[in-house]
Amino acid sequence: MSLTAEEISNNWNSLLKIIETEFSGDRKEKLLNLYNKYEDRISIAPASSVDHYHNAFIGGYVDHVLRVIRNAKEVYKLWTTMGANMAGYTREELIFVAMNHDLGKIGFPGEGNEIYIHNDSEWHRKNQGKIFKVNPNNPFALVNDLSIWLLQHHDIKISFNEMISIKCTDGLYDESNKPYFISRMKESKLRINLPYVMHQADLMAARIEYEMWVKDEEPSIPKPKKKTTKLSTDKVDASKLFGELFGD
Ligand SMILES: [Fe+2]
Repeated sequence: MSLTAEEISNNWNSLLKIIETEFSGDRKEKLLNLYNKYEDRISIAPASSVDHYHNAFIGGYVDHVLRVIRNAKEVYKLWTTMGANMAGYTREELIFVAMNHDLGKIGFPGEGNEIYIHNDSEWHRKNQGKIFKVNPNNPFALVNDLSIWLLQHHDIKISFNEMISIKCTDGLYDESNKPYFISRMKESKLRINLPYVMHQADLMAARIEYEMWVKDEEPSIPKPKKKTTKLSTDKVDASKLFGELFGD
């Protein structure tokens, strides 16, 4: 799976257009500053390091983010249709979380601090699908936590709803989210459903991206050769068959 230079460029322009149309004022300017500053890095970043994870190719990150934004709008509509209480958060918060939930995947500020770097081991690329490797320059951080830190580092204010929802995007796949999703007391239950909407949007995007990779790989996976036995649909002439087998 790969994107052409034109597709990468189109995706980048789509992302900038979303910032232009969905945000306003100081936050819009600061988001544009951040994204323009790291354009070279963000526009070509992969969304993961291993080919069978999701979007582990050049430009995969922005492609994933755009898909999560589209999914988030649709998941929001579905929850609305099914009678969920959609009060308590705004469309801007929904788009903001979808757009920035994986921001940590761009890496730390500074030259050479990307999260995913080229894997120079041909063996690992070929035999284990490890197309990229995690940059050892950077300290360990969970992606969603790093997303939140990067936003504050670039002086972009985020609401409580946005903070909780970015944190919870991976749902229970991230064990540190357990207290938000598994609560015995009503007081500690999530007050809004944005984290659920975001988790479903992200999960769906990652699964679809995996399935696209599988589809892309299919022609190269050799299919087992089947022995076929052709069954005749002609009527059998029993007396002729008997004659052929045993002689008249
Ligand atoms: Fe994601």
